[in-house]
Amino acid sequence: MSATLIDGKKIAAEIQEEVRQGRERLERERGIVPGLAFVLVGDDPASHVYVGSKGKACERLGFRSVTERLPAETSERDLLALVRRFNADPAIHGILVQLPLPKHINEQRVIETIDYRKDVDGLHPVNVGRLVLGLDCLAPCTPRGIMELLSRSGIDPNGRHVVVVGRSNLVGKPVMNMLLQKRPGANAIVTIAHTGAKDIAPYVREADIVIAAIGKPGMVTGAMLKPGCVVIDVGINRIPDSSTKTGTRIVGDVDFPSASAVASALTPVPGGVGPMTIAMLMKNTLRAAEGSIYG
Ligand code: GUN
Repeated sequence: MSATLIDGKKIAAEIQEEVRQGRERLERERGIVPGLAFVLVGDDPASHVYVGSKGKACERLGFRSVTERLPAETSERDLLALVRRFNADPAIHGILVQLPLPKHINEQRVIETIDYRKDVDGLHPVNVGRLVLGLDCLAPCTPRGIMELLSRSGIDPNGRHVVVVGRSNLVGKPVMNMLLQKRPGANAIVTIAHTGAKDIAPYVREADIVIAAIGKPGMVTGAMLKPGCVVIDVGINRIPDSSTKTGTRIVGDVDFPSASAVASALTPVPGGVGPMTIAMLMKNTLRAAEGSIYG
């Protein structure tokens, strides 16, 4: 058996087109152009690539964007002052501080300084709390992207056992909360497996849907999977590969060759969850600009 590929690139392009139309309507009817501020501290190459792709999406959809690239030694005080400046700027509707931040900066303090109405990453405690309660909120982009990928691929988690591998605030915990909600497109039975488990295989084997968000290349293998399950690979890992021009290549958290022989459907890396994250960021920014959640 060979798994069907879930085409995140195509689904993300559909969502981006919907967002572009929403942006046009917002400008036509209310004269508002959505504005997104990116803040990047230090020189982590992956973060620069991510912010670059997000900036390009803004251009494509006709959003305003500003990118502040700050040196690694920027003080927490200066970073908080910048966040407050964006909080007060009426042309900015979304603020994204790229994570991880340098060690001397308290990440949580930065997140809590962002106005929750501009928190397009959905990481502020107000948004996290509302997500857990099942209330409308700005929700984290990658988990939202995973939910959209499932629903737009005709995969219904209702009553199915979903095993999420990884418990991060950015992916594992929020996607668990989305899947748990008693509503169409969710209502799953959810297990989280994490580094506290001696072996993740016994948990993964029970899953109808596996969501791998670990950050380690090839951790989930075909041998761990129940035949016919659906696999969503959230990992973006750069590994050495002497056969490529750059000497590296991007792989997910799932060992693709062995998993595709056992699963019924699988997201590729790249071209699966990654483009969905960007599409949902644009959607969150549009919603923030519309004031459709918090007014
Ligand atoms: N680093 C990796 N993914 C993300 C994300 O979705 N948002 C932010 N702010 N930082 C990240």
